[in-house]
Amino acid sequence: MKVRGQHYRTIWPDEAENRVIRLIDQRFLPHRFVIEEVRTVDEMAAAIREMHVRGAGLIGAAAGYGMYLATFEGDLVAAAEKLKATRPTAVNLAWAIEKQLKAIGDQTNTEERRRTAFSTANQIADEDAEFCRRIGEHGVELIRRLSEKKGGAPVNVLTHCNAGWLAFVDHGSATAPIYAAYDAGIPVHVWVDETRPRSQGSKLTAWELGEHGVAHTVIADNAGGHLMQHGKVDAVIVGTDRTTYTGDVANKIGTYLKALAAKDNAVPFYVALPSSSFDWNIRDGLKEIPIEERGSEEVNYADGWHDGVHVEVRVSPENSGAANFGFDVTPRGLVTGLITERGICEANEQSILGLFPEHRR
Ligand code: MRU
Repeated sequence: MKVRGQHYRTIWPDEAENRVIRLIDQRFLPHRFVIEEVRTVDEMAAAIREMHVRGAGLIGAAAGYGMYLATFEGDLVAAAEKLKATRPTAVNLAWAIEKQLKAIGDQTNTEERRRTAFSTANQIADEDAEFCRRIGEHGVELIRRLSEKKGGAPVNVLTHCNAGWLAFVDHGSATAPIYAAYDAGIPVHVWVDETRPRSQGSKLTAWELGEHGVAHTVIADNAGGHLMQHGKVDAVIVGTDRTTYTGDVANKIGTYLKALAAKDNAVPFYVALPSSSFDWNIRDGLKEIPIEERGSEEVNYADGWHDGVHVEVRVSPENSGAANFGFDVTPRGLVTGLITERGICEANEQSILGLFPEHRR
């Protein structure tokens, strides 16, 4: 996508130096646009763990390039373990690492390994971008229909967290239909949940929508239900970090409450995802999807920028503890549909496996 008129992906290999991976360091957005150079597995693991890069698709792509860097260091199994341990919920991480291990596992020649790992990492990244583009092609039809129903008045989409191009290599999942609608001249406006505690909505989604020219309004996390009750939301579109083959959806904490409110107000609730975010082994999302718990400081403190300087301020009393669950699971019964690179299906086993029959057992 474009940043000040120039096309960027979120991660890419340096053209001149074969041991350097470049990525947009998202900790500085929206106030500074910083590109980081990553040279080692440890640096890539830190970039994922400390959320210089984040979002399911991008975590997968970063792990793919991390495994390429591992071919310069030798121990592929240790590198795989280190990268896998960084963040537990997004299934794309393990998926990309397994793909790399399969591709390079049997090769003993170092140069050959390196070449294979490099092309596999690029393939993971290219596929991620292409699948998101196709999600846009399928999802835009939903927005078009809503627009026609409204006689051309702007379609109001609510989204949570950041499932935009910053969460992938390009285009994004939840945002791809929105960008496609905007590009097709369909009037669209986005309600952006701020998404505490890390504020991916107000920091990242609002920034990327603004760069693209899409009308949007940042709202407090608890405002969505009110807006739905008053007919101000035509559809919810969110992303996912892991969706079971039965249709249960893990996504940023708070998504479940939006799905409940959507159900109560007959607002369609869509989840956009590339197939790399399906977990083909897990049947019960609520019981089986690991939910990341992060440090209490993310909840106790708020952060932002003042006069160009990053500042953190304590919000809660000094001696109050905090719990920080990163994700929740929305049961399949609350999901209207899944927008994938192959088309739109219902959130149930039969419909999902109908689109992806190669995963039938
Ligand atoms: O903790 P994050 O920022 O990596 O969380 C991921 C998300 O931004 C959302 O949950 C998103 O909808 C899924 S990633 C496409």
